[in-house]
Amino acid sequence: MNNALEAVPGGDAPEHLSSVNPTVIRWGIVGTGRIARRFAQGLAHVEAAQLTALWSRRAEPAAAFAAEFGGTACASFDALLASGIDALYIATLQDSHVDYAIAALEAGLHVLCEKPATINAAQLERVLTAARGARRLFMEAMKPPFYPLYRALRAHLADDPIGEIGLVRAGCSAANVPPDHPSFSFEHAGGALLDIGIYEMFLAVDWLGAPLEVQTLGRLGPTGVDIFASLNSQHERGISQLFCGLDLHGKGDALLLAAGGHVTIHENWWNPARATIRYADGRVVELDVPFEGGGLNYETAHFCELIRAGQLESPVMPHAKSLQMIAMTDAARSALGLRFAGE
Ligand SMILES: NC(=O)c1ccc[n+]([C@@H]2O[C@H](COP(=O)([O-])OP(=O)(O)OC[C@H]3O[C@@H](n4cnc5c(N)ncnc54)[C@H](OP(=O)(O)O)[C@@H]3O)[C@@H](O)[C@H]2O)c1
Repeated sequence: MNNALEAVPGGDAPEHLSSVNPTVIRWGIVGTGRIARRFAQGLAHVEAAQLTALWSRRAEPAAAFAAEFGGTACASFDALLASGIDALYIATLQDSHVDYAIAALEAGLHVLCEKPATINAAQLERVLTAARGARRLFMEAMKPPFYPLYRALRAHLADDPIGEIGLVRAGCSAANVPPDHPSFSFEHAGGALLDIGIYEMFLAVDWLGAPLEVQTLGRLGPTGVDIFASLNSQHERGISQLFCGLDLHGKGDALLLAAGGHVTIHENWWNPARATIRYADGRVVELDVPFEGGGLNYETAHFCELIRAGQLESPVMPHAKSLQMIAMTDAARSALGLRFAGE
């Protein structure tokens, strides 16, 4: 699936890249917290890509980030947009993704946006409209499909199939998240579904297609965000059973079932490194494919390749998949009666 660049209806190679140096992609980062650090560490493992500029609300951590990882700490978001970068990585909390993404796309930048791309489908539609209007690449930074193990699993199942996957079961619940973590923040649109569940939604739509019906049980916590949800969903090609939470502890594996066998992607399946395929005829295949660079480097390398190829959408993480994932969280939050500010 990852070698399908040519299968994507693309755009023209962006003018500002086609002329001078088409190889080195100059990156900017907005938000210099935990995941931005991991992105910057990963960038060192990506060929022909460099951290050029960054901005965060507080000047001091931004300056420390630049001192550690390189690049110029800009004085404002507008200065970051005008700093000569080709692509922006959005690493702020999810309530602000929509505004930063639209502003960057309208400024002519390609945008790799942390998960969840936005907090609801309506916001994502606005971002995608901006991307189409600006003819710039937009991709949600959904890391699992870019990991070597996930790609090896896809390749193995293509060569030695177990049949069409008909059930996806996956879950992750983390009861050891500190109470001041943004996951518990209503203001920043935290909650288990948007912070953790979005990975499970990815796995479900990646193997089973668009959701047709989502049934949800769950509960809200004292800060008003969802702290546990269990979803049973009908998709175009099967059923998914997913859970996510912040009050029970179980960092799970993932299970893919077909008529000819099943796959276990071992924990933590969203940073996949090991899988077991058990065929109905008794054969067992173990896949052990470690990742390097922290893992975000694979999606970043893919994104750089798309820019060089003049593509406006990833074949691995297309816009439709992001819309299907966020539609599942919209449906689940609606069932739990959870609305964020402005919804
Ligand atoms: N892909 C993954 O593996 C992964 C893992 C964890 C998180 N994430 C996602 O990454 C995003 C960031 O999470 P995190 O754990 O890195 O959070 P974090 O450590 O709290 O960092 C967030 C950063 O964004 C800045 N920020 C927050 N809201 C902002 C706004 N409205 N305008 C400008 N800057 C703002 C913060 O600045 P201040 O210091 O000024 O508050 C901070 O620098 C979230 O969407 C999360 O879901 C992805």
